[in-house]
Amino acid sequence: MRPLTQLPAWDALKRHHGAVCNLHMRDLFATDRQRFQKFSLKLDDLLLDYSKNRVTEETMGLLLDLARQSGVEERRDQMFSGAPINSTEARPVLHVALRNRSQRAFLVQGQDVMPEVRRVLAQMRSFVEDLRAGKWLGATGMPIRHIVNIGIGGSDLGPLMVTEALKPYGRDDLTSSFVSNVDGSHIHQILKKCSPETTLFIVASKTFTTLETLANAGTARSWLVQALGEPAVARHFVALSTNAQSVTAFGIDPANMFAFWDWVGGRYSLWSAIGLSIALAIGFSEFEALLAGAFEMDEHFRTAPLATNMPVIMALLGVWYSNFFDAAVHAVLPYDQYLHRFPAYLQQADMESNGKSVTLEGRPVDYATGPVLFGEPGTNGQHAFYQLIHQGTRLVPCDFIAAANSANPVGCHHELLLANFFAQPEALMMGKAADQPYKAFLGNRPSNSLLYARLDPRTLGRLIALYEHKIFVQGVIWQINSFDQWGVELGKQLAKTILPELIDDRALDHHDGSTAGLIAYFRHLRR
Ligand code: F6P
Repeated sequence: MRPLTQLPAWDALKRHHGAVCNLHMRDLFATDRQRFQKFSLKLDDLLLDYSKNRVTEETMGLLLDLARQSGVEERRDQMFSGAPINSTEARPVLHVALRNRSQRAFLVQGQDVMPEVRRVLAQMRSFVEDLRAGKWLGATGMPIRHIVNIGIGGSDLGPLMVTEALKPYGRDDLTSSFVSNVDGSHIHQILKKCSPETTLFIVASKTFTTLETLANAGTARSWLVQALGEPAVARHFVALSTNAQSVTAFGIDPANMFAFWDWVGGRYSLWSAIGLSIALAIGFSEFEALLAGAFEMDEHFRTAPLATNMPVIMALLGVWYSNFFDAAVHAVLPYDQYLHRFPAYLQQADMESNGKSVTLEGRPVDYATGPVLFGEPGTNGQHAFYQLIHQGTRLVPCDFIAAANSANPVGCHHELLLANFFAQPEALMMGKAADQPYKAFLGNRPSNSLLYARLDPRTLGRLIALYEHKIFVQGVIWQINSFDQWGVELGKQLAKTILPELIDDRALDHHDGSTAGLIAYFRHLRR
């Protein structure tokens, strides 16, 4: 593979950047009345307006050359064909199979995985329907009223984000909580609200070895057994995992396990059995609508030409700012309270995927890779960090996201909200002259706007898949493996070594001075 910085398009983009970096978008709009039409894409009701970016038609052409020279199309086809593109773990990357609504086969080592995918979906459907109909009863014959998902990372962030986003599709008599942090305060606060007789715990862990999840699941189990006795576990615990052996060892009946497979990455797993808490909250047909929305985006990504391919365009704009404008951050700003966990979810999706500094061939990269992603719902973010985006010294490319219709059309709240959604990108782009320098806004600050009819399961599915594929395309261009997470694995091992040192007074001299000092002081405070 030719190194990224030696591709002809890279060189051309560098030269082009020199020529266009001082152009102001205000002028680009003034001289081209068709700019919005040229730089926007529509997929049914979902509109991406990327005209407020520091690009010309030539820029887009060169970025598309970069995508072609980087082999984006070939790599995309490899992913869909089940090739082991997660090279450091020798695994295929097939979350797209989980939401495949067609009759197409997805092959892993020559074997179609679709029959197994459909079998687990059918198992999920029957469980969800029984529980929501009050047919799956707790150990004392009471219906389940509260779901507690115990998981962390991808086994938490996706289900939590979607359950929050689709709250209007939930039921008041069936509530959900998510325990992730190993800090005992997290589970403590949640158990306080639960009644053992009506609570179902979902232990969500791909590996079933994750320390945080096992600690929380153990605490939940003791709490339940203390109230209802050991036999109650079978009616109040189910597991979502690839590891049947450890699930059984934990004491969960294998009949209550919903499987998935090692070709599903943790941060791409909400479409698998890991989505059980979502399906319980919104019902199985709405969960299927979520999958169908993602499938629509998959089909678009798989078949649309690069120049009109939404995830590709968003990815290329990100590369333009990261690698040619040295932008180190990216803001995701949903003007939708129900999407309040979307930026947090995307932090894992993006930063765990593209926070890499070694190429697929093992060489250190000599260019920037994934940005720091952050965000908050509008308008709250406006009263927190937008000051820096408008007048700070750093370039912060933004994605503004909103629905035309609210799930709760209260008074004129939605119009007020959307007025801000339109005003902020305009102000960021246009800027404002003023007598006083501190009142002046330079403008020329880039953003994308995503606008759609309403936030329903289908649209949420399309949105999530849009970002998943954007992240994929960027990983291909940066020549990194977006599907491993060795940086996180390190943390898991380090904590295990230190744990015994907190419990007894063993020697600390193998640590650096700071760590040894901190642990010694901790011991002192605990005495
Ligand atoms: O955060 C790191 C990670 O490995 C994620 O990729 C994964 O989503 C999370 O840990 C949880 O792992 P598991 O589902 O195996 O408990």
